[in-house]
Amino acid sequence: MGLLESIDLNKLPKHVAIIMDGNGRWAKERGEDRVFGHHQGVISVREIVNACAEIGIQYLTLYAFSAENWNRPVEEVNALMELLVNTIRKEIDELDKNNVKLHIIGDFASLPAICQKELNEAMELTSKNTGLNLVLALSYSSRQEIAEAARKIAMDVAAGKLKPEDINENSFKNYLYTSEFPDPELMIRTSGEFRVSNYLLYQLAYAEFYFTNTHWPDFRKKDLIEALLNYQQRERRFGKTSEQIQTNTTQHV
Ligand code: FPP
Repeated sequence: MGLLESIDLNKLPKHVAIIMDGNGRWAKERGEDRVFGHHQGVISVREIVNACAEIGIQYLTLYAFSAENWNRPVEEVNALMELLVNTIRKEIDELDKNNVKLHIIGDFASLPAICQKELNEAMELTSKNTGLNLVLALSYSSRQEIAEAARKIAMDVAAGKLKPEDINENSFKNYLYTSEFPDPELMIRTSGEFRVSNYLLYQLAYAEFYFTNTHWPDFRKKDLIEALLNYQQRERRFGKTSEQIQTNTTQHV
């Protein structure tokens, strides 16, 4: 039996979130420029998106550019923005054909105008698609997202649209960038780092974390399948005991 066939399709995570780390180190190890690593990273993005669509993952969120990444050397920031625009231009018809729906989370307004235009067109083009939801986190900061949610809630309360007693976990979720997505059940970080780096802090509350030493440009379909198999071996207890889970495997919090 191949790796792919070993996956239990009834136990797939609905939502996988990935921190694509290690492009720079991958390039440095080969005596190349960091930007070369990002270009190679796009090949992994394409393969992982296709693999998720094929396997039947419903949501894939990729940390493509953090709010903190603006502090990188300007040449690298510009190269990443250019790569983003060129990749969207090049791949969007294929994504559309494969029924992928594109979403963006993050501080969209802080992106260069050309990126916003390209991304808006791509989201519009794929808006009716019903397959994989591909969520790109761009200029994303989880703390900023949570602070912004608090500000919007305060404004709604001040405007009389929301009562303070109606603020709870469920209503709070509606104010996050991710309001229309289920929480990720699996978070993968490549390149041997064991941090969350301001990524989906609220949404990852019950996620399983999977860390691998593989740098992102080397992370391909077989690596994704290994992560999914590892996830499927975990017991997700949601605060309950192992015995409770084993006697009632269908009950989730
Ligand atoms: C982390 O590697 C990677 C990034 C900050 C950017 C990720 C971007 C891509 C894979 C390409 C563009 C994406 C799309 C969706 C078109 P790093 O530079 O932090 O690596 P290092 O830790 O080894 O320096």
